[in-house]
Amino acid sequence: MSFFFRAAYLLGFKPWDSGVPPPELVSVVEGPERLRPGKALDVGCGTGTNCIYMAQHGWDAAGVDFVPRAIAQARRKAAAAGASPRFVVGDVTRLTEVGVGAGYGLLLDLGCFHSIGDARRDAYVDGVTQVAKQGATMLMFGMVRRGEAGRVGPRGIARGEVAQRFASGWEIVSEDAGGPMFGNDTAWYRLRRR
Ligand SMILES: C[S@@+](CC[C@H](N)C(=O)[O-])C[C@H]1O[C@@H](n2cnc3c(N)ncnc32)[C@H](O)[C@@H]1O
Repeated sequence: MSFFFRAAYLLGFKPWDSGVPPPELVSVVEGPERLRPGKALDVGCGTGTNCIYMAQHGWDAAGVDFVPRAIAQARRKAAAAGASPRFVVGDVTRLTEVGVGAGYGLLLDLGCFHSIGDARRDAYVDGVTQVAKQGATMLMFGMVRRGEAGRVGPRGIARGEVAQRFASGWEIVSEDAGGPMFGNDTAWYRLRRR
């Protein structure tokens, strides 16, 4: 998947890069039941839109992505916006080794976990579990996995997979349908670190 994303950023093919934070994030940052700002981590942050947004709203924000070109763009966008989130080039399935630290109260994954190969997903979960503090909120958006036939886009998240993989350290607070993507269903998950 690394090759795909490197090529995508090189070619400027990044349909996910909307440039605006999703309402689900805005709700926990600015809504009536907003979280108290602390450390926030955007897992697979791309060009940094959501890190910049969180930093502009009082969060000590960091983002990690394994495509150097995306991180370079994120740094330029942050500088232009006068915001100072921290951006790290690294593999989110090796989160404890990439230097992002720990103690995060808010974690965001917009379309990263759903593209990771099955064999690395438990390592991803171990990493986010270790860097999150107790009571942390995690928001995750991903495509729901269909059969292999006619599949377009990322690998997706199987039904029940989040509950199963995150079972030991997290509880699922909510699971809501998102809009369609490439003709597939999507879902928003909100999790809470035990
Ligand atoms: C669909 S894009 C979404 C980017 C960003 N969250 C956004 O909403 O604009 C998925 C991102 O996850 C990154 N990514 C995928 N697998 C990764 C991994 N194992 N380690 C680090 N980044 C990864 C990709 O480089 C890409 O930027």
